[in-house]
Amino acid sequence: MKAIVCHAFGDFHDLKVEETAPPPLRAGSVRIAVEAASISFATQLWVAGSYQHRPPLPFVPGGEFVGTIIECAPDARRFKPGQRVLAISGWGGYAEQAVVTEHTVYPIPSGIDAGAALHLATSYATAYGALVWSAKLAPGETLLVLAAAGGVGLAAVEIGRVLGARVIAAAGGAEKCAIACAHGAQAAIDYRRGDLRAEIRRVTENRGIDVVFDPVGGASFDAALRSLVPGGRHVIIGFAGGSIPQIPANILLVKNIAVLGFNIGKWYGWSVNDERARHEPEMRAAFEQIFAWHGEGRLEPLVSQVYPLARFVEAQDAVVERRSVGKVVLLVNQEEKGA
Ligand SMILES: NC(=O)c1ccc[n+]([C@@H]2O[C@H](COP(=O)([O-])OP(=O)(O)OC[C@H]3O[C@@H](n4cnc5c(N)ncnc54)[C@H](OP(=O)(O)O)[C@@H]3O)[C@@H](O)[C@H]2O)c1
Repeated sequence: MKAIVCHAFGDFHDLKVEETAPPPLRAGSVRIAVEAASISFATQLWVAGSYQHRPPLPFVPGGEFVGTIIECAPDARRFKPGQRVLAISGWGGYAEQAVVTEHTVYPIPSGIDAGAALHLATSYATAYGALVWSAKLAPGETLLVLAAAGGVGLAAVEIGRVLGARVIAAAGGAEKCAIACAHGAQAAIDYRRGDLRAEIRRVTENRGIDVVFDPVGGASFDAALRSLVPGGRHVIIGFAGGSIPQIPANILLVKNIAVLGFNIGKWYGWSVNDERARHEPEMRAAFEQIFAWHGEGRLEPLVSQVYPLARFVEAQDAVVERRSVGKVVLLVNQEEKGA
């Protein structure tokens, strides 16, 4: 089969498509003919060996993918060959076939576009978990989303609106701000142009914000944290800006503020079995809710770029170089639809 194989941790630019043997079917696993896989900011970290988890080498990157089940191990009874499903397995998706344990496989609504399903199950699930489970965002609260036109950012804008919040988007550039507004933000701040804290004061008429959704870190973290109202919650999603912020604990104390970390990987459960058992029902319920909102037309996952498997490096570059909005998808067992 064709696959992108990482033989040693390093630069993703060194990866290319190669011919390799399909993985063997293991106990409790299913074999999936992969249709499309997600490109994410974190893929470069997995390949570099600098993600929280290091797969055994050699490994096929691609942690989330949609495809059709073609074989089930005798003890894997949740699914049947022929079912079109989503898998969230940590790695394995940038290949024509993947073998994954069945508890990392989820049903998807019939006929749903693969890119939309991937976006909903990754970025939207992250936004859902961070805002519902961690921040406990309430209707009428003000939500600030940083990097609001990025994958998880745009999802947080839409989930925030569905939950009844007033959403303020912060993004780099007028075009990204416009995209965030088109997806439900009521106000937008171009943080490349001005002082983020002053702009938050302006758009909230000096009130401040209740919840921050923060995939960026760096200087934006500080400005957003200092803009929280008493009792506010700042949810840390990632450090796309490159630097890990230090938290001034005095601000937390004085304003009764909580800084919360949210890592969807703990809910997906491809890494830690006892956590999977604990979180699996919540995760499956969250997927059902997210797919239902999508079916009702309340979520509009934006897949901005689609690449064939052979152009993986270009696809990953688009994300790393900040040229993407919404989700970038890799087509595996299909012809290119244009990038
Ligand atoms: N905690 C979790 O469970 C979880 C789940 C998914 C993703 N994440 C993390 O969340 C972050 C964003 O992921 P994503 O999929 O939304 O990525 P993405 O689509 O590439 O969006 C990242 C955005 O971050 C902003 N950014 C600010 N400084 C940047 C820099 N120096 N380089 C690149 N981008 C920069 C950019 O928006 P502007 O140009 O508007 O600033 C960019 O669009 C990543 O760190 C990822 O690992 C965490």
